[in-house]
Amino acid sequence: MFVIRSLFLLFSWLWLSLAMITFAATPIAKSGCPTKCGDLTIQYPFGFGLDGACSLSSMYNINCNTSFDPPKSFLGTTNLEVLDLFDNGQMRIRNYMATRCYQGGEIDNSTRSSSVAWINLGDLPLVFSDIENKFVVVGCDDLALIKGTLGRSSTPFTSGCVAVCARPDQVLNGSCTGIGCCQTSIPKGLKTFITSVTSLDNHTNVSYFNPCGHAFVAEQNKFTFNLANLSDPMFRSRMKDEIPVMLDWFVGVNQTCSQAKGDPATYACQQNSDCTDFDNGLGYRCSCLSGYQGNPYLSPGCTDIDECTGSIKPCSHLCSNTLGGYKCSCPKGHRGDALKNGTGCTSDNSQFVTSARRKKLMKLREKFFEQNGGLLMKQQLSQKGGTMESSKIFSADELKVATNNYSEDRILGKGGYGTVYKGIFRDGREVAIKKSKVADESQVELFINEVVILTQINHRNVVKLLGCCLETEVPLLVYEFISNGTLFEHIHKSKGITSWLTWANCIRLAAEAADALAYLHSAASIPIIHRDVKSTNILVDESYTAKIADFGASRLIPIDQSQVTTLVQGTMGYLDPEYFHTSQLTEKSDVYSFGVVLAELLTKEKPLSFERKQEERNLATYFVLSLKEDRLMEILDPQLVREASEVQLVTLAKLVKNCLNVKGEDRPTMKEVALELEGLKKQNRHPWAEHNHEETTGLTGQHDLYPVPSNGYSGNPSTGEFSGLNSIDINMITNLNHPR
Ligand SMILES: *[C@@H]1O[C@H](CO)[C@@H](O)[C@H](O)[C@H]1NC(C)=O
Ligand SMILES: *[C@@H]1O[C@H](CO)[C@@H](O)[C@H](O)[C@H]1NC(C)=O
Ligand SMILES: *[C@@H]1O[C@H](CO)[C@@H](O)[C@H](O)[C@H]1NC(C)=O
Ligand SMILES: *[C@@H]1O[C@H](CO)[C@@H](O)[C@H](O)[C@H]1NC(C)=O
Ligand SMILES: *[C@@H]1O[C@H](CO)[C@@H](O)[C@H](O)[C@H]1NC(C)=O
Ligand SMILES: *[C@@H]1O[C@H](CO)[C@@H](O)[C@H](O)[C@H]1NC(C)=O
Ligand SMILES: *[C@@H]1O[C@H](CO)[C@@H](O)[C@H](O)[C@H]1NC(C)=O
Ligand SMILES: *[C@@H]1O[C@H](CO)[C@@H](O)[C@H](O)[C@H]1NC(C)=O
Ligand SMILES: *[C@@H]1O[C@H](CO)[C@@H](O)[C@H](O)[C@H]1NC(C)=O
Ligand SMILES: *[C@@H]1O[C@H](CO)[C@@H](O)[C@H](O)[C@H]1NC(C)=O
Repeated sequence: MFVIRSLFLLFSWLWLSLAMITFAATPIAKSGCPTKCGDLTIQYPFGFGLDGACSLSSMYNINCNTSFDPPKSFLGTTNLEVLDLFDNGQMRIRNYMATRCYQGGEIDNSTRSSSVAWINLGDLPLVFSDIENKFVVVGCDDLALIKGTLGRSSTPFTSGCVAVCARPDQVLNGSCTGIGCCQTSIPKGLKTFITSVTSLDNHTNVSYFNPCGHAFVAEQNKFTFNLANLSDPMFRSRMKDEIPVMLDWFVGVNQTCSQAKGDPATYACQQNSDCTDFDNGLGYRCSCLSGYQGNPYLSPGCTDIDECTGSIKPCSHLCSNTLGGYKCSCPKGHRGDALKNGTGCTSDNSQFVTSARRKKLMKLREKFFEQNGGLLMKQQLSQKGGTMESSKIFSADELKVATNNYSEDRILGKGGYGTVYKGIFRDGREVAIKKSKVADESQVELFINEVVILTQINHRNVVKLLGCCLETEVPLLVYEFISNGTLFEHIHKSKGITSWLTWANCIRLAAEAADALAYLHSAASIPIIHRDVKSTNILVDESYTAKIADFGASRLIPIDQSQVTTLVQGTMGYLDPEYFHTSQLTEKSDVYSFGVVLAELLTKEKPLSFERKQEERNLATYFVLSLKEDRLMEILDPQLVREASEVQLVTLAKLVKNCLNVKGEDRPTMKEVALELEGLKKQNRHPWAEHNHEETTGLTGQHDLYPVPSNGYSGNPSTGEFSGLNSIDINMITNLNHPR
């Protein structure tokens, strides 16, 4: 028993002396120099004494005045009292503040001299921390200015704050936002400041609860404003005791790291440390390299951390220390990274099992890649001259994480070809991920088609394909995320209300979509037929720009052939009847479908509706019939009728009718449609040129989404500001001002 006890004591003693040796190995001050004055601990480059023997230079001298109890520390020979010194480059000093009090509408004589306060850091290697401090004014009738100088060139700086309040019950505890308390930021590199507090009205109406005003620069985390502070006669003295100013200290006055390294005799960063520039050439700071510890300013420098014996033991099994790091290893017969945070160590047997499972998974992924046409795609891409440079092959894991495991709440939409999910990558990038329904060979071909086509397309009104993933059972396509939904949603949600889908915006969106389709038909290196043009395939981005999506049904048409016989694809209501009957696909099928979209925009009616009479169920028929029977204005969206001229509406309606011609060859080309829409759009920008009669409804049309106020609004203060209004409000205002 006795032996054990002695052994225990012996071990304790050994442990203690080891700890002391460790402590001695990482000193914070020059040897033989004191590190404490009262409660304050300081470290090199600062040192006690006024002779500079313990500090880097006289600028880092700290004067410990023991005639105070407890002793107080001052910077050199100044009266700036150091409260805390941190090795991260910060220092707290005692605060100074401006205060002025009032009695019966007159300045209280005893506080006349305190209404101005300043702190001047002179040439010392210090600045006020712009991150930790704020300039604060406390009072209910007070205004304070702060003036100062910044940086090496002593650039002047001025700012100010006004704190007012009428009654105590209006003051918000904890909120320094102008009512009884006001605060502003201070700039980087502030070296001196002076502040003076004055009153607006001698506190005449507020002195019953707030006799004094105060202004100061202070550490913002230490000061929380409270109603009680306004009446507290002890506020000033408590403030000076409790709310310090935070300073940033540095070394190498006027030198950057690279300048300092040029002169090893004065370069302050010692071995195993790094240098970082401080505030625009004011100086620099040193820090230990990772894996090292100690005082980077003190010769010989930072020392290696023995992670294996430290308090955070990183290894799960065997640990060996290295310079600046450590190595973890597993015992014999085990494998793994041996990290506590990692996989640790597992015996070779179980390792074999997981590695076999991993191999199987890899095999499966390879199989999917092939099954999903990875090889076909590579081949097609090289044939078609497309490149995967701009797009990317995403990993299955990456997409799984981005979609939160294909979670239900990430579903953006479901279509004939599969489900579209919203994905968010670790870096915050948002994408749309399209997952095909089943892994069936014909669908796979569609996917590959889409990838190949889209990699060749670059148009601002076509949804960009970012890449794909072929490792999964069903192939996945990754698109740019278009944030503002489909045109279908916008059209039918806004039915009967005044919406952003003004005449001007309808025409602009239609022109954009038509331009993209015309580009696909003619401008791309190989003509492309979309095959499934509909309002759900026209997306709207955050700036309300149209983007054509979903090329799942696209087929390239060979240049030497203008017709291809294929399986009929498309959506009821938009489907070209000629194509439906003959299976002869041409670009004109897209023109027909686009005509339906235009009709949808003009009427806000759905392409197929069982709410309409039998013969009017199909919007295309309904539209053409109404135009023929001269009932056009009855079926058009009232907002558009209000906003556009009859000439404009009829021009567009005729274009729609032409697009909806039963015979494909009688329809205009997409290029012609785009030109016509562009013409309508241009006309729209100069409404005054045409309107010389009372039908001046063009004013709303003149506004795009972000209008410039016109003369009608200037001089009216309540609507003088436009930037914060959305288009709906603007339409309402416009309509109020210009009743029909
Ligand atoms: C210490 O402070 C006292 C009181 O302010 C002052 O008189 C004295 O000169 C100071 N001593 C030193 C060494 O600065
Ligand atoms: C405030 O008081 C001073 C004297 O203390 C006086 O000169 C000044 O006119 C007063 N101002 C107001 C607005 O009452
Ligand atoms: C304050 O000082 C002024 C002049 O210095 C004097 O006229 C006035 O009576 C003093 N007020 C009070 C309350 O002592
Ligand atoms: C604000 O704090 C003071 C003192 O702590 C308290 O008397 C007062 O009721 C508080 N006011 C509000 C609105 O919380
Ligand atoms: C102070 O109160 C008086 C009387 O109620 C009022 O006329 C005056 O405008 C008030 N002053 C301020 C600055 O609110
Ligand atoms: C401000 O008021 C609060 C609440 O009474 C108090 O805790 C705090 O110490 C006061 N601050 C100062 C600087 O007096
Ligand atoms: C630093 O530069 C400023 C202005 O360029 C100069 O006034 C000051 O004396 C310099 N300080 C040192 C220590 O070189
Ligand atoms: C382990 O990971 C946690 C969280 O990622 C981290 O805080 C901790 O420092 C790591 N521990 C080691 C020994 O690396
Ligand atoms: C994803 O789902 C699988 C099984 O469906 C589950 O094992 C895994 O923990 C899930 N991961 C996340 C991040 O939810
Ligand atoms: C479209 O975007 C605007 C502005 O970004 C937003 O306020 C609005 O809710 C969005 N509408 C839809 C349908 O997403």
